[in-house]
Amino acid sequence: MSAHDIPVPMTACAGAPLAGTAEVPGDKSISHRALILGALAVGKTRITGLLEGQDILDTAAAMRAFGAEVVQHGPGEWSVHGVGVGGFGEPDNVIDCGNSGTGVRLVMGAMATTPITATFTGDASLRARPMERITDPLALFGARAVGRAGGRLPMTITGASDPVPVRYELPVASAQVKSAVLLAGLNAPGETVVIERVATRDHTERMLEGFGADIFVEETGEGRVITLRGQPELVAQEIAVPRDPSSAAFPVCAALIVPGSEVLVPGISLNPTRAGLFETLREMGADLTYENAREAGGEPVADLRARFSPRMRGVVVPAGRAASMIDEYPVLSVVAANAAGETVMEGIGELRVKESDRIDTMARGLRACGVAVAETDDSMRIQGLGAGRVPGGATCETRLDHRIAMSFLVLGLAARVPVKVDDSAPIATSFPGFEALMAGLGARIVRVNH
Ligand code: S3P
Repeated sequence: MSAHDIPVPMTACAGAPLAGTAEVPGDKSISHRALILGALAVGKTRITGLLEGQDILDTAAAMRAFGAEVVQHGPGEWSVHGVGVGGFGEPDNVIDCGNSGTGVRLVMGAMATTPITATFTGDASLRARPMERITDPLALFGARAVGRAGGRLPMTITGASDPVPVRYELPVASAQVKSAVLLAGLNAPGETVVIERVATRDHTERMLEGFGADIFVEETGEGRVITLRGQPELVAQEIAVPRDPSSAAFPVCAALIVPGSEVLVPGISLNPTRAGLFETLREMGADLTYENAREAGGEPVADLRARFSPRMRGVVVPAGRAASMIDEYPVLSVVAANAAGETVMEGIGELRVKESDRIDTMARGLRACGVAVAETDDSMRIQGLGAGRVPGGATCETRLDHRIAMSFLVLGLAARVPVKVDDSAPIATSFPGFEALMAGLGARIVRVNH
């Protein structure tokens, strides 16, 4: 069942300062990869801190459908008994990846060099998203894909029976595409090479190395060149999933704009390929401090303290930073509305093909709340009104997009008049405890009638 069948409207309004510790859930990107690589390893991988959002539950179900034994032992505690590289069996039904672009694209990659056929679908948001960015490189391995017009789901992939290794330069800065090619390369003989001009999140490379794959990353004049030797035996691992910086972004940004707030988010990943938002917020004048830096699950982590920051200013966010904060622009635009002066976000065209067209969805909602926004195909300009000066008072459309829903609820916490979202149900895809966590900090976010 989809989490989005019944819309759940919610309203956020200004109130007391936010205070306390925000234990945000496990990293979504790392959780997908832990399940998929666990399923491709030999032996039992044990995972702690797994995100139990719907996106991840859908990937867990997909791994079961391909033959892995995936078991939940307790909250966040899972094990995956893998089938080994090349060991996927043919699913006996359609694989429903729900709302998750990462889930469907990584799983397509993982099965594309095994001679089986699988059909993939998802919710209305996922069925509208482009898949050719995945099926084009997978065709080079010898996989065949048949989908709807424009390369849309539902789509059937038949994996290559005699795969060849591939050298592929990413045409878009996308960790999903990079990861799909690397996962396909696992069952191709010889060396698969992926070249990325702009560094994107590197969890797949880190985790492949952890599972014992022969993978080598070189920084060259062409960009990052990643070389993977195919047909390794992946060895089951113990994986402690760090907390998700993309989820931490919501309580952190809320604390920055709600007067008097101070919130601590313990144990979030500080991986530099994910840290662009926090860098940008500091440039804007946000009071953010890192404490207790350490390592967990092969990733750098720290505790992050955020305090109300009434004097933030607008900045130019350069295109080169987009990949390291691609999921954080919606909530950044909320902070920008509460900062003084203009914020310009450049090189963000990829936002148009996320769970919703995030440039359009944010621009409409912000305008409805009294904030001036200009957009081009790949940029957005927000005229910040300064701390506590956003009028609010609108109902914002969320369009099956979890991050849009959470962003407008954060906006409402500092607006003059409450802000309503038409549907908060998609939040369950990435941050199932959002409502309770924000309530625990003192936020006034409540469910309302239609
Ligand atoms: C992800 C990559 C990004 C990001 C998504 C998670 C991943 O997508 O938006 O939420 O885990 O690889 P793109 O690869 O399309 O940029």
